[in-house]
Amino acid sequence: MLTANSLTLPMLLAALPRLVAGRTALRRRLRDELARLFGVDARRIVLTDTGRAALALLLRAHGVGAGDEVIVPAYTCVVVPNQIPALGATVRWLDVSAATLGFDWSRLDAAIGPATRAVIVPHNFGPACRVPDALRLRHPRVVFLDDAAHGFASQCDGQWLGTYHDGAFFSFEYSKNLSGGIGGFALLPEGLVAEEPPAELGALDQLRLLATLTGHLLAARCALAGRVWLALARRVGLIYRSSDAEVADGVAHPPRALPALSAALLLPQLAALPALLRHKQRLAEHYRAALSAVPGLTLWPGAPGAHWVRYPFALPQPVADKAALARRLSAACGLAIGVWFDDVIHPAGSFRHGYLAGSAPEGERLAATVLNLPMNVAIACDAALDARLARLAAALAAYLKETAA
Ligand SMILES: Cc1ncc(COP(=O)(O)O)c(C=O)c1O
Repeated sequence: MLTANSLTLPMLLAALPRLVAGRTALRRRLRDELARLFGVDARRIVLTDTGRAALALLLRAHGVGAGDEVIVPAYTCVVVPNQIPALGATVRWLDVSAATLGFDWSRLDAAIGPATRAVIVPHNFGPACRVPDALRLRHPRVVFLDDAAHGFASQCDGQWLGTYHDGAFFSFEYSKNLSGGIGGFALLPEGLVAEEPPAELGALDQLRLLATLTGHLLAARCALAGRVWLALARRVGLIYRSSDAEVADGVAHPPRALPALSAALLLPQLAALPALLRHKQRLAEHYRAALSAVPGLTLWPGAPGAHWVRYPFALPQPVADKAALARRLSAACGLAIGVWFDDVIHPAGSFRHGYLAGSAPEGERLAATVLNLPMNVAIACDAALDARLARLAAALAAYLKETAA
């Protein structure tokens, strides 16, 4: 599922000369711009190399540690729970609601116990939600942290996601709303203090990041060119990705500072945010119109102020091999259909952190039925898109007919 969401190849090329400003100045400008957007003091923005590092930093700043329990949505990426055992705390899985892709508040209320110190509030695919005030008041020892990895620039009742709970973590990874290749930040609540990670990404890793990002951007223009580039990069060891130990063994990520390249890429995207968001709203409208015409699919409404990181839709029945179906649909329509999340702990085969199969039936059903469409600035909202979507709708209708038989 290659994508670079809000970034294009010309934008990558234009960012390279900006690197002469140096990482300290680039990071300071990015921090200031983010603070301006969210209307907060710049000291509340802590830049990191990933969203997961920002989560670890937030948990630490809140004093989560040995003996504490952290509630985690059972429909998320493995790098989220990975940060918890490293603090001596334990993961407590909680099912999500298929109706909202987030938590059901009464279920959350019931799940909070004496050992619970933190709740990771999901905003899967991007729409923002808010924990009811009464629930927060009933649990004054518990901090509610927004997993805003998918939800940069989403709002809930006119407030930015990340500003109304006890802190939030965001991601700027390739596929996210703003694409820095990698990157993330914590938005701290007022009064909480945390430092940026002191370690820098090594020179070879920075080269890997550039090579991998170029491959993603080429793939968005021409799938074959992207595939060839990435195959060559893989052969010479220039692919940047999460370590195998993070995925297979559930180890915590070693936090580092946001790379200069990521900051140089993100600044112009941030400056163009209103236009980016308008474009993505239009894409979502085209997707909604096309998919609404296919009987049996589930779509999520997305309140005003919601920005999708990818546009999700669910099939009426679990799909045995979602990846194969995504390939078939992508080939039929020419759009890169995605499979996140392909398990309650994505990617499938990841470390389980004690998850018991069957304990989150709604998350499991979503993992077996949800596919998604790319929210990519490189996709024009034109007649060619509508033709592709018509082919997607026909391919979906054919699949549903086959599987109903
Ligand atoms: C829901 C969710 N939260 C957090 C993250 C972590 O973000 P990052 O890859 O920047 O660490 C991801 C990664 O895709 C994610 O999907």
